[in-house]
Amino acid sequence: MLDRSERTVVLAGVGGDSHSVGIITLRNALQRAGYHVRFLSIQNTAAELHAAAAGADAVLVSNMDGHAAYYLRDLPSLRAEEPDGAVWYIGGNPSLAGDEPAAAELAGLGFDRVFLGYVEPAEVISVLDRDLTVRECGFARPAAPAGRALPEVRPMPRRRSPAEQRDDVLAQWPTGHPAGRLEENAEVCAARGNLAAVQEAADRDGRTLIHPRTGVAGVREQIELFRTLEEAGADVLSFQIDSLTRNNAHEQVEMLLKESVADPGAFAGLNGFPLVNHGVEAGRSITAYFPHVPFQVRHSTRDPRLLAEITFASGITSFEGGALTYNLPYYRDYSPRQSVRRWQYVDRLSGIYHERFGITVDREFFGVLTATMVPPCLAVAVDVLETLLAAEEGVKSVSLGYAEQGNRAQDIGAIRALRRVARGYLDARGHQDVAVHTVFHQYMAAFPADPEKSRALLHGSAVSARLSGATRLMLKTVAESSHIPSGVQNAAGVALVRAAWAAEADTAAPGLADFEEELTVTEASAILDAVLGLDASDLGERIALAVERGLLDVPFSPNRWNAGKAMCARDSAGAVRFAVVGDIPLPEQVRRLHRDAVRSRLRRTGGDLDAMVESDVLRTARGDFAVWPLTS
Ligand code: 5AD
Repeated sequence: MLDRSERTVVLAGVGGDSHSVGIITLRNALQRAGYHVRFLSIQNTAAELHAAAAGADAVLVSNMDGHAAYYLRDLPSLRAEEPDGAVWYIGGNPSLAGDEPAAAELAGLGFDRVFLGYVEPAEVISVLDRDLTVRECGFARPAAPAGRALPEVRPMPRRRSPAEQRDDVLAQWPTGHPAGRLEENAEVCAARGNLAAVQEAADRDGRTLIHPRTGVAGVREQIELFRTLEEAGADVLSFQIDSLTRNNAHEQVEMLLKESVADPGAFAGLNGFPLVNHGVEAGRSITAYFPHVPFQVRHSTRDPRLLAEITFASGITSFEGGALTYNLPYYRDYSPRQSVRRWQYVDRLSGIYHERFGITVDREFFGVLTATMVPPCLAVAVDVLETLLAAEEGVKSVSLGYAEQGNRAQDIGAIRALRRVARGYLDARGHQDVAVHTVFHQYMAAFPADPEKSRALLHGSAVSARLSGATRLMLKTVAESSHIPSGVQNAAGVALVRAAWAAEADTAAPGLADFEEELTVTEASAILDAVLGLDASDLGERIALAVERGLLDVPFSPNRWNAGKAMCARDSAGAVRFAVVGDIPLPEQVRRLHRDAVRSRLRRTGGDLDAMVESDVLRTARGDFAVWPLTS
C-alpha cells in the first residue's frame, strides 16, 4: 500500500509561462490527498527543476504557453550528467505543435508521461499512485523544504523621469533607437486609427465594440490575419505579443526568427508577434495597411518601457498593462515597487504624446487578474488605482478590464461599478478630463473541451457583455481549451457574438444587477479609501504597500509579495464571494454577507470548503454547467 506522505512530488511551472491557477489547484489537491509536495511555483529554469528533483519521487511540470521544449532544452543533458531517478510528467498546453509531434518532442526531453489538454486532479493523483506503487523507492525521504521565505521589502526605487531613462530604454535593443523621434512618431499616430476616439463614439452611441486577439511571428502573416479579421467585422485589432518578448528575451526571439528564415516552418516557435524585434518600420508598415483601424498592443511584458516606445512609434495608440495587473497575475519574483516605477514611465510617455502633440493614447488595465474566481471589487480597485497612477502622469483615456465570472447580475454590476467608481475617484482628484471606458472579457479561465459547451458559453457571455453596457468585448473562441485561435476561428467568434446580440436583442438586465453594482461600489470604495489613506510618499508607494500588507490580495497570484490569504467560492447562484477575506479591508456587514453566502452554499452541497473551492475552479473546464451564464 502506497504511503503518500512518504512520497515527494515536485510541482513547477517553467520558463516565462505565467499560468498559476492550474498548479496552485493541483498543489492543493495533491496535499489534500496526502502527498508531500515540493512546490516551486511558476517560472523555474531547467536547472532549478533538476536540482529540486534530487531525492524526489516524481516531478510534475506544467506549461501553458507552448514553449516547454524551448525552456527545457538543457534538461536532458543536466539529467544525463546527474540522474535523479524521479518519474517525470508534463501537462497543460506545452507545445504549439499538434498532439502527436508534441508528445514525441516532450518524450524526447525525457518525460515519462505527457498530458495534453485538461486533466482532472483526481486522474493525476491516480496515475501518480499507480506509477509510484510500481516504482522502486530507493530514496530516503528528503528534508522538508524551508518555509516560504518572505520577500524582502526594499525602499521604493527613486522616481526617474522618462528624459532621465530614455536613452537606456531605447538602447535595450537595436530597434529602440529608430523609435526615438517623438515628432515623427506623432505624425504617424495622427494618420492612423485611434482607439480612444473610437471608444468615445461607441459609448456615445451605446455600441459595444468587438475585439479579437491576434499575434503570429511574421509580418506578412500578421497582415493577413488582420485582413481576415477586418473583413469579419472586428472593430478593434491588436497585436498579441509573444511570451519571449514579454520576458524581454529579445536575443532568443532573434535566434528563432533567424532559424525561421532558413526554415519557414520554424515560425510556429513563437506564440505571438515580436514587435520589439521586428521594430518600428515593420510596425508602421503593418498599421499603414489599415489606416482607419484602431490598433492596440496586448502583452504582459515584465519591463514594458521599450515595447511602449516602439508601439507608439509604430502608430499604435493603445497599450495594455499596469503596475499591478501586469505583475501580480504574471510574475513570481517581481516586486510591485519596481513595476510601479516602470509603468510610470509608460504612463508619462503617453502623457507626453498628448501634451506635446495632441495624440490621445488609451491605456488599458487588465482587471482580469488571474481570471479565476476573482471578485469584482478587486478588479475595480486595481483598475482604479492604475487609472489614478496614469492620470497623474497625464493620460487622458483609460479602458478598464473585467473578466466575466459567470453570474450575469454580478458581471453586469461589475462593469457598471467600474465606470462609476473610476469616474468618482478621478473627478474627486481633478481629473474630469480623463475618459473612462470599460472592457468585458468573455470568460478568461479554463474553457470546456466540448465545442458545444464552449459555444453556449460564448453566446451567453456575449449577451451579458451587451447588457452590461461595456464599451468593448474581448473575444474568445471555441478553440480556447486547446490552442491559440486562428484568424478563421476568431472570425467565427465575431460572427457568434453578433448572432447572439441579434437573437437576444430584447433581453433585459436582471434586477439583481442593481444590488451587485451597489455591493461592488461599496467594497471597491472601502478598499480604495484604505489604500489611498496609507502613509507613504506617493501613490505608487501606497499601492506597493497595499500589496505588501494584503489590502490588495489576488487569489491564485504567483507573486511573492501577494499575501495569498484571500480565497473565493461561488454562492448558490454562481456569484463569486469571499470564502476567506484575509486582510482586504471590507466593511463588517459586507464580510458577513460573503461569509453567509459561502456557508449557505456549503450547507446545501455538503463536504468541506477546500473541495468546494476546487470544484468551483474546475467547473467550467469540466463543462459542468447546464446553461451559461450560471444564473441570469
Ligand atoms: N493570437 C490570438 N490569440 C492569442 N491568445 C494568446 N496568444 C494569442 C495569439 N498569438 C489568446 C488565448 C487566450 C487569451 C488570453 O489570449 O487564446 O484566450
